[in-house]
Amino acid sequence: ALARARTAIAEHGRMVADFPAPGIDFKDLTPVLADPDGLSAIVTALTHGCGSVDLVAGIDARGFLLGGAVARELGVGTLAVRKGGKLPPPVYSIDYDLEYGSARLEIPASGIDITGSRVLLVDDVLATGGTVVAAAELLRRAGAEVIGVAVIMEIAALGGRARIADGFADVPVHAV
Ligand code: PRP
Ligand code: MG
Repeated sequence: ALARARTAIAEHGRMVADFPAPGIDFKDLTPVLADPDGLSAIVTALTHGCGSVDLVAGIDARGFLLGGAVARELGVGTLAVRKGGKLPPPVYSIDYDLEYGSARLEIPASGIDITGSRVLLVDDVLATGGTVVAAAELLRRAGAEVIGVAVIMEIAALGGRARIADGFADVPVHAV
């Protein structure tokens, strides 16, 4: 699946210069996920080496495309890590910086109990790592254990992997 996923990304992925702001190269994986073989290979590849998982968390918004599918692949449930203001109270909430701008992420603080759950965190792209670290911090506050981070693509030059290692030292990061 890893090789099939990489072929699909090479064939269908594209870079868009200067979006959403000048100087930013936008990594557009839309055509990869719209391709049936691409989606299938990527979902399987994201689970590579993840070990035992109780729950898959997908990060708003593009991580949602993956979270439910990866959870289904592993036979577990999924949790949406939402942008601010979308969930009813009470919530765990955290503000974080993006490659462009800043934002807030939230998860429910009632209705589900993820204390002690082994959570695989998934998103499409790892850039500065701000988004993943914020999501992982929320899960930690809720008592869950982040056992891995899986993304389709990593922009290594932006240092996301090191930033994750700073806050979550033993959490493996898998980039397809
Ligand atoms: C993009 C991408 C990742 C994040 C990576 O999401 O989907 O979630 O940026 O950046 P970072 O590693 O520097 O934090 P974005 O917040 O732009 O929005 P979207 O997923 O809602 O499109
Ligand atoms: Mg995103």
